[in-house]
Amino acid sequence: MERRLQGKTAVVTGGANGIGRACCERLAVEGADIVIADIAAADETVMDVKRTGGKAVAQRCDLSSLEDVARLRERVDASFGGCDVLVHNAGIYPNTPFEEITFDEWRKVMTVNIDSMFHLTKAFLPNMKSKGWGRIIAMSSTVFHSGIPGYCHYSASKAGLIGFMRSLASEVGQFGITANAIAPGLVRTGTTEARLETQWFDQTVEQQAIKRTGEPADLVGPLAFIASNDAAFVTGQTLLVDGGWRFV
Ligand SMILES: NC(=O)c1ccc[n+]([C@@H]2O[C@H](COP(=O)([O-])OP(=O)(O)OC[C@H]3O[C@@H](n4cnc5c(N)ncnc54)[C@H](O)[C@@H]3O)[C@@H](O)[C@H]2O)c1
Repeated sequence: MERRLQGKTAVVTGGANGIGRACCERLAVEGADIVIADIAAADETVMDVKRTGGKAVAQRCDLSSLEDVARLRERVDASFGGCDVLVHNAGIYPNTPFEEITFDEWRKVMTVNIDSMFHLTKAFLPNMKSKGWGRIIAMSSTVFHSGIPGYCHYSASKAGLIGFMRSLASEVGQFGITANAIAPGLVRTGTTEARLETQWFDQTVEQQAIKRTGEPADLVGPLAFIASNDAAFVTGQTLLVDGGWRFV
């Protein structure tokens, strides 16, 4: 495989599990050094990357802590000379009907899912600008347009990421930096499998053009494309990776 990210450093939030873990491995295969920023231990992802011959370090980081984000930036700048590809993948998705969502739960979802995008971009953008190259990528969700019951806070946060990217793209394009979002449909991860009944997966597959459940591996090609120079003229976009959900 062509190593389109040779010499680059990718910071992947939420890279310890699920979609983020798969993304780390693929970005490493593309040649990037990987920094996994996660509140959970990421030893298995580090091993995945090392098996590909790549380099990965895990930095424990609670994205709701400004101190942790500052420590992450210091380590990335000191050890890797800055972040070239920022993948804001970490997210939480509690299922709560609107009338039962407390303001604390609302704030928690916003803090992890979207406030952290603000802090991470503030942390890594200056270095990207000075190099004249950067990729800022957020993992949104198809719920931003479809909506589903129980996810008002989550949907708001994922729609917010898309608006953020469109405006950011218009500011940073002149510096060789792109800002895009990927919106997965339903993807089988440890969290969705533990959380959702089998019928959720079955019903979703029925509503997709492609009749199988999405897997983390389905996200990695689109992500690698957006991160690479092949997508140098693609910015402010949201790429739906959902098997054609609700087209049929
Ligand atoms: N799985 C799906 O069906 C699906 C669909 C659409 C969008 N997404 C989005 O894709 C992303 C990944 O989803 P997933 O299913 O792989 O999730 P996951 O729960 O498997 O993994 C999320 C990771 O984020 C980390 N994380 C959570 N809170 C954190 C915090 N405060 N600080 C740092 N790390 C934190 C977790 O430890 C975990 O490793 C999320 O943003 C999610 O909203 C997922």
